[in-house]
Amino acid sequence: MKILIINGPNLNMLGIREPKIYGSGTYGELIRMIAENCREHGDGSDFFQSNHEGALVDRIQQAYFDGTEGIVINPGAYTHTSVAISDAVKAVGIPTVEVHISDVDSREDFRKISFIRAACVATVTGEGFGGYLHACDILREGRAPDESAEKGEL
Ligand code: DQA
Repeated sequence: MKILIINGPNLNMLGIREPKIYGSGTYGELIRMIAENCREHGDGSDFFQSNHEGALVDRIQQAYFDGTEGIVINPGAYTHTSVAISDAVKAVGIPTVEVHISDVDSREDFRKISFIRAACVATVTGEGFGGYLHACDILREGRAPDESAEKGEL
């Protein structure tokens, strides 16, 4: 399947930003790991990272037209603020898994709010870089596994 992996603001700073929370791996290492995993599974992978909300919305909309069959998205801080990104995921109707490297539910209260969760088939948190591979597996299986968080209510 053709999987699009989207990362939001500050995820280009992986390896530099708060390594105790996000680890020492870089964004480049992350995408190489995912690309390799997708290759092994015979899947296509495409990557997009932006620090800008509108650019993330544009890329999600583009996915409707470019044959993307599944989206893995870590919206970064926009998780907790963006109705526009959540609406874009709903608009395109492509199965999407929300990923967070850290365990957002055990951090500050504002990180427990996710606007995108209700638009996603599953959520993976606190699994480090491996969470992205878990998210790809969920898309491949075409279902939300038991351990995924329940869909949030806005
Ligand atoms: C994050 C968690 C967010 O709260 C934070 O703003 C990020 C990264 C994560 O991957 O754990 O930028 O999405």
